[in-house]
Amino acid sequence: MINRYTVIGQPIAHSLSPVVHQLFGELTQRKIKYSRTEATPESFEQIVRDWKESGASGCNITSPFKGQAVQICDRLSREAQLAESVNTIHMHRDGSMVGYTTDGPGLVVDIVRNRRQSLDDKRVLILGAGGAARGVMQAILGKNPSLLHVANRTAEKATHLASVFDHLGSVSGSGYDQLPDMAGFDTVINATTLGMSGTMPELPEHMMNTGSLAYDMTYAKRDTPFMSWARERGASTANGLGMLVEQAAESFLIWDGVRPKTRMVYPRLREMLA
Ligand code: ATR
Repeated sequence: MINRYTVIGQPIAHSLSPVVHQLFGELTQRKIKYSRTEATPESFEQIVRDWKESGASGCNITSPFKGQAVQICDRLSREAQLAESVNTIHMHRDGSMVGYTTDGPGLVVDIVRNRRQSLDDKRVLILGAGGAARGVMQAILGKNPSLLHVANRTAEKATHLASVFDHLGSVSGSGYDQLPDMAGFDTVINATTLGMSGTMPELPEHMMNTGSLAYDMTYAKRDTPFMSWARERGASTANGLGMLVEQAAESFLIWDGVRPKTRMVYPRLREMLA
């Protein structure tokens, strides 16, 4: 039997998820078919329901539908509930749809396991306070940082986000000009939508140093402006490719019960992307 999956988003043409999942299928010797599906806010719900009716096993949800997906699931994992974000739907045989978010676990596995950067007792800064930031807060706090600070252009959004998660650890929020006065952050994660074209917000020079990891959640072939900025200040840098692969592995685990050995995928993926 072939299990069928798709990733639903807008735009979706450049999504790497089909490639990653196809490689996982080969690695785990499972027959899967994984496609891309374009939706609009109006068509999204019907597309997901039609996908389920067609007998498919699940789907991934990407921008801008992760919040809308929360509304249409029959049940949610606790993480998806708190994140108000669903990137993985498991379609059960009884007809119900269960929503999960694997973005946070994917990010944390990439930082801690692949990049060997512990978050335990470390100071972590997230830039941005939108859906992307919210989606990874719980997983980061699960690694017991001494502080998780959220900084955002609109300061109120950062303080609000901090208040949602402050029962899970030491969390604070502010504008970019009001970072907590301390020597620097061990890990700085860009969760804004600045991407390749945006200009970096004004950030204090002292917030990063040679031991810091600067992690951009966006994936691009070249360094993003955030990565260049951090590299100039001596930090090591990472883009979102590892997060993409690891969140996909977490989705695969939910659907198929095995977590593919992702390190086998990276060389193939880099070859294909070169
Ligand atoms: P996502 O779901 O991908 O996080 P979002 O919810 O629209 O998208 O959030 C976008 C984030 O990028 C926000 O934190 C936004 O800051 P504001 O809340 O102040 O709007 C941030 N962002 C987008 N463009 C930016 C820019 N030019 N400078 C600084 N921050 C920016």
